[in-house]
Amino acid sequence: MTHRIAAIAGDGIGTEVLPEGLRILEAAAKRFDIDLEIEHFDFASCDYYLEHGQMLPDDWFDTLSSFDAIFFGAVGWPEKVPDHISLWGSLLQFRRAFDQYINLRPCRLMPGIKSPLADREPGDIDFYVVRENTEGEYSSVGGKMFEGTEREVVIQDTVMTRTGIDRVLKYAFDLASKRPRHKLTSATKSNGISITMPYWDERVKAMASHYPDVTVDQFHIDILTANFVLHPDWFDVVVASNLFGDILSDLGPACTGTIGVAPSANINPEGKYPSLFEPVHGSAPDIAGKGIANPIGQMWCGAMMLEHLGHEEAGKAIVDAIEQVLAAGPEQAPLTPDLKGQGTTQSLGKAITEALEK
Ligand code: NAI
Ligand code: MG
Repeated sequence: MTHRIAAIAGDGIGTEVLPEGLRILEAAAKRFDIDLEIEHFDFASCDYYLEHGQMLPDDWFDTLSSFDAIFFGAVGWPEKVPDHISLWGSLLQFRRAFDQYINLRPCRLMPGIKSPLADREPGDIDFYVVRENTEGEYSSVGGKMFEGTEREVVIQDTVMTRTGIDRVLKYAFDLASKRPRHKLTSATKSNGISITMPYWDERVKAMASHYPDVTVDQFHIDILTANFVLHPDWFDVVVASNLFGDILSDLGPACTGTIGVAPSANINPEGKYPSLFEPVHGSAPDIAGKGIANPIGQMWCGAMMLEHLGHEEAGKAIVDAIEQVLAAGPEQAPLTPDLKGQGTTQSLGKAITEALEK
């Protein structure tokens, strides 16, 4: 079976790290006998916008729909195009139109990287944040009245649907039941948000009854953020609404060191539409063109994409190769400057790929 992958580099360091992501994907495909067919697209970039007056071609939906996954670099170049235009005109279109209702981010302290949290070692921080990616607090229901007067009123309603909550919970419980610790934490705030959050809690209870092997706990979001910092070792799979998940999915990876290594996946679990895999970082205009961007976030995305396509062993081999090279440290391995080394995007990409091939 052939997996068709749409590769979109985007802007800035997206164009530098994407080739390294493809390098390791191709090596993994070879080693594990996976058939990947990769097609490149130049849209969803600011240069495309300057030429065409829009971020995407009119037929982008049909074009990309036929792929099994989208491998994405980063988009945005604020000097050329305002960020709200580049982001809303591309990535956010993909997430919505392709119903990528899961945003999945691993939070894992890798060997050789110092956590900003004191005395934390690899193994202490190793969990996933599963964020609802389509509804919740980020709704378009609401409005403004009496603008510019004393009576000015602004309302934005949270939208939680049974379908929307249950599907993200199901994904999170499935993930928890596959992980060794079988543990799930729900982010709530049912003490303060007294209608939608008790409903969220109710659905968590209902879903938990189908997963007797998963241990479930819940925290209000305020103390949960504190516990991410104080006790990151408590967590295994953390499931959250759109807003809470947005906050947790930045805080979690931040506890594991540099942004350059963090991957994320926007998933349509049913596979009706392609899922999208992108590093957490952006286009980094401050270092773009210098060849020193850390390619690990993009390469780890490759691992997540292979796992999503059913090749768990190949995905794990990529993560193992990354860990092996990181563990060697900046003296032995060509780590990039953000990892205190003197390597380049390409030399680090090659070193990790060689570790995979061995
Ligand atoms: P950024 O993530 O691009 O950069 C933040 C800082 O982290 C910079 O100092 C950068 O040099 C450093 N950094 C980022 N990735 C790195 C890597 N792989 N290796 C080493 N250092 C790295 O965020 P910023 O500066 O806020 O945004 C720049 C542009 O990227 C904007 O246009 C923004 O809209 C866009 N952006 C796009 C995202 C996406 O495509 N999903 C996500 C975040 C930002
Ligand atoms: Mg965010």
